[in-house]
Amino acid sequence: MSFDFDSFDDDSLPTSDRWNPRSASRALAHKRRKPKKTAGQILAELAEAPHVAEDLLEFTYQPARHEAIWLRESLQPFFDQALIEDVLALVKGGKEANVYLCRATPPLGTPYLAAKVYRPRQFRNLRNDQLYREGRELLTSLGVPIKNRDTREMRAIRNKTSYGAELTHISWLMYEYLTLQRLYELGAAVPRPFSAADNALLMAFIGDVQQPAPVLHGQTLPPEKADQLFHAVLSNVELMLQHGLIHGDLSAYNILYWEQTITLIDFPQVTLSEGNHNAYALLHRDLQRVCEYFAQQGVHQNASALTAQLWKQYVRTAPNQTLSDGYGSA
Ligand SMILES: Nc1ncnc2c1ncn2[C@@H]1O[C@H](COP(=O)(O)OP(=O)(O)OP(=O)(O)O)[C@@H](O)[C@H]1O
Ligand SMILES: [Mg+2]
Repeated sequence: MSFDFDSFDDDSLPTSDRWNPRSASRALAHKRRKPKKTAGQILAELAEAPHVAEDLLEFTYQPARHEAIWLRESLQPFFDQALIEDVLALVKGGKEANVYLCRATPPLGTPYLAAKVYRPRQFRNLRNDQLYREGRELLTSLGVPIKNRDTREMRAIRNKTSYGAELTHISWLMYEYLTLQRLYELGAAVPRPFSAADNALLMAFIGDVQQPAPVLHGQTLPPEKADQLFHAVLSNVELMLQHGLIHGDLSAYNILYWEQTITLIDFPQVTLSEGNHNAYALLHRDLQRVCEYFAQQGVHQNASALTAQLWKQYVRTAPNQTLSDGYGSA
């Protein structure tokens, strides 16, 4: 894993390479002090002024030029909410998002946070979200569903405008955030969520300053540990199902392994067990992938039998049917 904190260490950067927003802003303020302006002029200028540099987030991590603007814009809300004060390193670049290690502000009582920043739309490799979207209402950036199907927003989505694509993206991200929130409150093994903005979400960082938690894939487990962790994953799948949810992209790649425990991540495609015709197939796929990994670790389970059993226990609809089909028994 390319996570070398030494290379992101403040002191290891040549001073000339380090852009310090605070001193830059002071230099700028000094230059601007010349002509006298009326109070009205000053107020009008202030109202129009973009963020003054004093209000900017620190960047120990040096983003590439194309990454810098996007990153700054995406993370600024968390700085404005006094949640983070520095971006320290890139943890991992994924297909849809990059995850960054941030320094949390002291009052949070935790040294680090992970910020998942979704890529700009044109560089994003979105999963086939149609598969998961059935039964899910569209969520605004406040996490509120858009109920009326005839709103400007719904028309934009139907007509596939770029505004519509942006709304779909925000909804996708809000599902990830709200699912984390709900599951965290229920006691599931997920990172604690802290905040969400239009293009990023902030959560507990799993790992330590030397190393982020690795994913389960590629880890070799001792037999007694393997059995215990399999049941830990299964009980999280069960807890989700009890609350009508299916991860939808669960595998050993979306489970972190740290200090002998597992943490489930990556929830934007969360699927409603009773609202989506693909729900049974998605649950089956999730369990199959989990079982495949654990079979390599000596834990042999039958994914099809598990799917059937969990479905019977927790889901009121028949497989391939939804509550809106009117087949629910409750
Ligand atoms: N809370 C966290 N703490 C530590 N590392 C994390 C955290 N969340 C995510 N990561 C790291 O970032 C990677 C990408 O996160 P995630 O799977 O949510 O995004 P993604 O874009 O869907 O990635 P991928 O395409 O690889 O699935 C994870 O595989 C993991 O290595
Ligand atoms: Mg992932």
